[in-house]
This record gives sequence, structure tokens and C-alpha cells, in this order.
Amino acid sequence: MEILKGKKILLGVSGGIAAFKACELLRLLVKSEALVRVVMTRSATKFVTPLTFSSLGAELVTADMWDVGRDSLDHVKWAEWADMFVVAPATANIIAKMATGIADEVLSTQLLAFSGPILLAPAMNVNMWNNYATQRNIAELNRNGVHFVGPTRGHLANLTIAEGRMNEPQNILGRICGILANRSDLTGVRILVTAGPTIEPLDPVRFISNRSSGKMGYAIARAARERGADVTLISGPVSISTPPEVKLIEIETAFQMKKAVSDSFKSVDAVIMAAAVADFKPKTYVRQKIKKGEKGLSLALVKNPDILEELASKKGKKIMVGFALETENLETFARKKMREKKLDMIIANDPTRKGAEFGSDFNKVIIFRKSKKALDLPLMPKNELAHKILDELVLLLKRRR
Ligand SMILES: Cc1cc2nc3c(=O)[nH]c(=O)nc-3n(C[C@H](O)[C@H](O)[C@H](O)COP(=O)(O)O)c2cc1C
Repeated sequence: MEILKGKKILLGVSGGIAAFKACELLRLLVKSEALVRVVMTRSATKFVTPLTFSSLGAELVTADMWDVGRDSLDHVKWAEWADMFVVAPATANIIAKMATGIADEVLSTQLLAFSGPILLAPAMNVNMWNNYATQRNIAELNRNGVHFVGPTRGHLANLTIAEGRMNEPQNILGRICGILANRSDLTGVRILVTAGPTIEPLDPVRFISNRSSGKMGYAIARAARERGADVTLISGPVSISTPPEVKLIEIETAFQMKKAVSDSFKSVDAVIMAAAVADFKPKTYVRQKIKKGEKGLSLALVKNPDILEELASKKGKKIMVGFALETENLETFARKKMREKKLDMIIANDPTRKGAEFGSDFNKVIIFRKSKKALDLPLMPKNELAHKILDELVLLLKRRR
């Protein structure tokens, strides 16, 4: 694998029975001419010895934070050295430490000090995997751009068949290559991403809105920046932190969204509209809080501007990507929207499907592209899906050039 040649990889190994598979992963990395240093937890050394990794071609191996002074190891030096950090296997324990920022031994400390891409290959007993604490920790790491591979369903250590088995070294290697390759393919591309809901005020204290969390749009903005794009993110009110090095423009209403999009539109190469812009707004805004009164209240609503439709006429050579959220006839409605709004690609999802509900860190979508087969993707974390969407965008940009 050409991409791995000369790449500096930290291979973290934590204390699970799958630690023996880390040896095979190291062998594959070394065969591809990557430079690998291995960081082990104390528990990992109960399963495999540091000597095994040195013998298989690791440049350096440590399992001790107090190894200071040897081979330029101090508590952060290796983290500064590496291009990528892979933890395989990742125990429930190391995942929990990462999610909470604990740095109490050499692996968790180096992970906390590392600012590049991190890939985790979890492996554990099925009940540990399904435990709410593990799932909460994974969701937290996902939100912060940590990549995951697996686990898969298969024979666990106690010979039961269940989810929790570490993914195969060959697949982990594939993900490492994917992540490293993706790091620069959008360099110089200017991308506008919209995210979150809009809110349409009724009076000074009330509004109508929708249940969009903004997670998908933020994941796309983060992933696009990671791949080198110059990203502007126009966002409705959400409670997610802004991805690093992304220009954030905050808006509340559909009208503000329209203005912000029009202002930025001219100077970008691609637009990804992941925001859930309210279709309607109250006909009148009441300046004082509406009193409860004796009777009910009827609201008159008027249509908001259709931002995509207005952009379609000024599209030129820009790539336009839209989202379609439907609870029925997904394909028919999505393809119709793609045609009418002159989109190059549309990502359709149904929030009533299990696992892809509003606010979830996962999504299950079908990507429709002009004159190409639909891409029906499995349920996956939103940050992984963001990269899949960007892979398609890269192809569209190449074709346009
Ligand atoms: C035989 C054995 C196998 C284990 N396998 C796993 C495993 O696959 N995944 C896991 O999360 N923990 C597993 N554990 C528990 C961890 O070793 C334990 O939680 C430990 O504290 C993890 O430490 P570390 O994350 O610092 O490596 C296993 C323990 C034993 C004794």
C-alpha cells in the first residue's frame, strides 16, 4: 500500500484477548513500509509481550510511562511524532478513559496528547459492548471525530457468537489507508455547509422549529476540513461545538439562512445543504408575549423561501448536494427533489428507521446521484457517513474539472 510508505503510525494495544491480532496488524503495516511504534497498556502485556512487537518490526515499543529518557520517549513526544494513532484492540476501559480525558498510563496519556486522526478497533464481551456507558463513550468520541472500525459479529473469547469481536487486521489496514488518503483530497476546495434547524419566532419567547440536531452537517464540516477543504458552516441553533478551523456563521431564521447562504455562495465550489430549514413561519410576529387567554390560539403560517430552488438558477459549475428527509416514498420524493432543484446528489433518509432517529449519532441513508445507481448504505456513525458523502463529492469535482 503506497500510501503507508514512510507514514508514522502509533499502534496502541490495550488489554483484550484480541491483542494477539495486533501482531498481525503490525506485520501488515511494516510490510507496507510504515514506521510503527507500539504503545501498550500494562494489561496488554499480560496477553502479548513487548518483545513480540519488537521482533515483528516495531521501531520502538513501550508499556511504561516512566520510561522517560529512553528513545526520546517522554509523555508526549511520541504523540508529536506520529501521523496517525490506531488502537487495536481498544478495550472498554481505554474507550472510557479517552471519552473522559483520563491520562493515567502511557497509552491514555499519549492518546490525550495526540491531535491527529485516531482509529479505534474495539473488542470486548457483547454485554460490555452493549452497556450504556460504553455506547455513551463511543457516541462522545464519534462526535469528536474519532474513527471506529468494527467490531463485528463472530466468535468471542468464550466461544459464544455475538457482536464484540475485533475487526480483522486486513480491514483495519484498509481503514487506516482510507483515513490517511482522505486527509488532503479536498485541499483548496471551498465548501459551504448548512446545518441544524431554523427557528421561526412567534413572539419574543416562542418559536416553531423542527427536531434537527445539526450532527450530520457538523460531521460533514469537520470531515471536509480534515480533508483540507476551506469550510464555511452556516448553522441554526444547536448544542455542538464548532469543528476546528471551520468558519461558523450563526443564524436563526430561514430568512437569515437565505441571506447568509447568498452572501457566501459566489465564492464556493460546492454547497452541501444539510440544514433542516423550516418550510413555514408564523404569518405575523407578535411583539409582546401572547397571553394565554380563555380560548385556544390559531396560528396562520406562510411559506418560507425555498433556498435550494433560488440557488439552482445561479448554480453555474458549482456542485450542489441536498438532503431529503422523508417518512414515505423515499426514492420517488428524493429523485424528484434532485431533478427540480438541479442537485448533483441527494442524500435521503427516513428518521423513523431504527437507529437513524433525530439526534442519533448514526444514520442510514441512500445516496442518489444523477445517472448512477443508488448507493444504499448501512447504518453507520455520522462521521463515517460524512466521509462517504465527501468521497462522492470528490468524484463529482474531478468529473467537473
Ligand atoms: C482473559 C481476559 C480477557 C479480557 N478481554 C477483554 C476484551 O476483549 N475487551 C475488554 O474491553 N476487556 C477485556 N478484559 C478486561 C480488561 O483487561 C480490563 O478491563 C483491563 O482493566 C483493561 O485495561 P487496559 O484498558 O488498560 O488495557 C479481559 C480480561 C481478561 C482477564
